Amino acid sequence: MKSTHVNSPLPGPKGKALLDKWHQFEADVVGFQAPVVWDTAKGCVVTDVDGNQYLDWTCGVLVTNVGHCHPHLVNAIKKAADRLLNNYECANVERIEAAERLVKALPKHLNRCFFLSTGSETTEGAHRLMKRKTGKYEVISFHGGFHGRTSAAASMGGMPSPKKGYGPTIPGVIRVPYPNPYRDPNGWCENFDKYFDFLEEMVAANSTGSLAGCIVEPYEGAAGFIFPPKGWLKRLEEWVHAKGLLLTVDEVQASYGRTGKMWAIEHEDIKADILTIGKAIGCGMPVSAVAATADVFACLNKGEMSSTLGGNPLASAAVSAVLDIYEKEPLVENSAKMGAYMKGRLQEAAQRCPYLGDVRGMGLVMGLEFVKDKKTKVPAPELIKPLITDCANHGLLIGSVGMYGNVIRVAPPLCITKAEADESLAIMEGALQRLKL
Ligand SMILES: Cc1ncc(COP(=O)(O)O)c(C=O)c1O
Repeated sequence: MKSTHVNSPLPGPKGKALLDKWHQFEADVVGFQAPVVWDTAKGCVVTDVDGNQYLDWTCGVLVTNVGHCHPHLVNAIKKAADRLLNNYECANVERIEAAERLVKALPKHLNRCFFLSTGSETTEGAHRLMKRKTGKYEVISFHGGFHGRTSAAASMGGMPSPKKGYGPTIPGVIRVPYPNPYRDPNGWCENFDKYFDFLEEMVAANSTGSLAGCIVEPYEGAAGFIFPPKGWLKRLEEWVHAKGLLLTVDEVQASYGRTGKMWAIEHEDIKADILTIGKAIGCGMPVSAVAATADVFACLNKGEMSSTLGGNPLASAAVSAVLDIYEKEPLVENSAKMGAYMKGRLQEAAQRCPYLGDVRGMGLVMGLEFVKDKKTKVPAPELIKPLITDCANHGLLIGSVGMYGNVIRVAPPLCITKAEADESLAIMEGALQRLKL
């Protein structure tokens, strides 16, 4: 049986009335989305206020990994809400349980965590930890990196939009290129020596001698799902540690099985000193965490890392419930298996579409990069809105990212079935056939 059903063109009548009302009251500053007002969602299927049903390749934005409104998670949140909603920094049963569960699920070398509410807060926390632990202030970060929109996060990021018009950024950030196999004019993806020689040069030219650490995404999400070549992250880890710096790996979106392993750093056994975690940790509840060793956290005095809502019982109950689901359901395995299947089908579709220049990814996180011409690789951001709209009109929700705004993200819930994958792929394949510059 089909999961999708849309009375196009969108928006439907109830959706249109609600969207008009929304823009009268809430500032209309969010990015472009299909004109759909979400009403309910279960697993991989979203229903809008007009009763239209869609398959979801967004997970919000890589959040609802266990599927929308998983009953175990919903029940745990309801139960916790009945008991206690907030108690700030005082201990509560749910928080203690969530900390134990999270630390036991982390890569072995990390043995402490601290709960916050958003990914950006974890970036700020990691930045503060790197500075306090080393007593230094400079950080190496990457072109195309995205770590959030708060001050240090935007400053360390290498995407234009969080920074443009908001200067000055914080001092002490040395931004260096991130290897991009699809756009690699210097041949750095084949020859890491060249890459690391350049890194040395950048540091020699820009550092005041106060390097504290390095922050990196295991793949660059917002920049367009750019996956570095195999071995590069390991080499970076070795370089960072050889210099006596701390390595923060931002797994706000890459963790919880998204890449086909629970933690993206497991693919190359990266010994991150600090791991930042968000999005799928609560699968819809606002919760995030900084993970590190007890030794790294020991640099902070009591009260130095704190947040009004961090570790609240509701969010903490979600952390434990999500981990229960990962223990019971083969989500990580399904991510690897269905990811490989979907990538294969999308790569075949790319051969038939003159504008789909690259299909890349690991597990259930993939980027579809659109170009005007496959030889010149000139970005084609103008294709993105029509594609999002066409897919929605046929029952598939997708979103966009990319340094040039020309990449579609493929990130369905990790519970996606073969039938749902096939149905959603057929919608995408049809939309690609209709796509015109
Ligand atoms: C890699 C990464 N880090 C940090 C953030 C910021 O998270 P939040 O929006 O929860 O503040 C994001 C958000 O998309 C992200 O993708």
